[in-house]
Amino acid sequence: MINRRKFISASAVSSLAALIGKKAWASEAPAIVKGKPVVISTWDAGLAANKGAWEILGKSGRALDAVEAGVRVTEDSLNCCVGLGANPDRDGFVTLDACIMDENFNCGSVAFLERIKHPISVARRVMEKTPHVMLVGSGAQQFAVAEGFPLEEQKLSLDAQRSYEEWLKKSEYKPVINIENKGNASTSFAPAKLANGEWNHDTIGMVAMDANGNLSGSCTTSGMGFKMRGRLGDSPIIGAGLYVDNEVGACTATGQGEDVIRVSGSHTVVELMRQGLSPEAACKKAIERIVRIKKDKIKDIQVAFLALNKKGQVGAFAIHKGFSYAIKSNDVEKLVNAKSWTS
Ligand code: GLY
Repeated sequence: MINRRKFISASAVSSLAALIGKKAWASEAPAIVKGKPVVISTWDAGLAANKGAWEILGKSGRALDAVEAGVRVTEDSLNCCVGLGANPDRDGFVTLDACIMDENFNCGSVAFLERIKHPISVARRVMEKTPHVMLVGSGAQQFAVAEGFPLEEQKLSLDAQRSYEEWLKKSEYKPVINIENKGNASTSFAPAKLANGEWNHDTIGMVAMDANGNLSGSCTTSGMGFKMRGRLGDSPIIGAGLYVDNEVGACTATGQGEDVIRVSGSHTVVELMRQGLSPEAACKKAIERIVRIKKDKIKDIQVAFLALNKKGQVGAFAIHKGFSYAIKSNDVEKLVNAKSWTS
């Protein structure tokens, strides 16, 4: 069956206007959030995730605990674009990737993990309980079970099942940029508004600074819907989907993981901030690097970076319009439309 499936690239730029039109409640970013703590996360689902993180940050808790709790909210939503309710790979299995990093360069990651509801928490256990950074596949699952994580039933959610059946009719890769935002703030978990036989990225990345000024980050994903079995994107890769340097700042990525990996995206953004660039300028420079590499293929690719520096400045930049991120601090709680390379 795999042989007759084709990689097809297709632009969906025309759908952007409709997507953006729904987001009248989004606004441009504040450059600096006053005071600590602060949490930012990718896409509309970040609003709910930030609330989860705030349960900890708002009580002077540690950023690491907050970024784990925050994205667990998204993983918990079985109808969401992240976690076990998400679209499967080409062979009909949901496989999950996640990573986490704290203020001391401790990091943990799991990839190609099946039947475990909270990959982010398994990633944290890898970080805290093993001498390793990354566990994958059946080994990651074995570790998770040994750590007491329940092995969930291998069953697609109803909506993922519908999407998969639809996708099987053509079995094409059909990138639809910004598909993460087909819902809105209140219905972004509504699966009917997510992929129906479409290819998507399904990621939440979060970075936070706690009341002590310490940074941490998390990233969790089901990866591209209907991906090749075994495919990993950037999200479980420290330096690509996420990077934290407590002296400088933190960054997370979303979008087409292959192109984030190509430029070690999140690490690149942090290094650019180290050189003095603001978070937005650093994200923009990293995006420009991808644009230079991909040339005319760029019209089919969405990548966005979201960063926070040690001063509490927040910034993001995307290839295409339509990327939003959620921000929460003591005085701000909102969704922001990021600037982009294409207008
Ligand atoms: N950015 C998520 C992925 O490409 O899998």
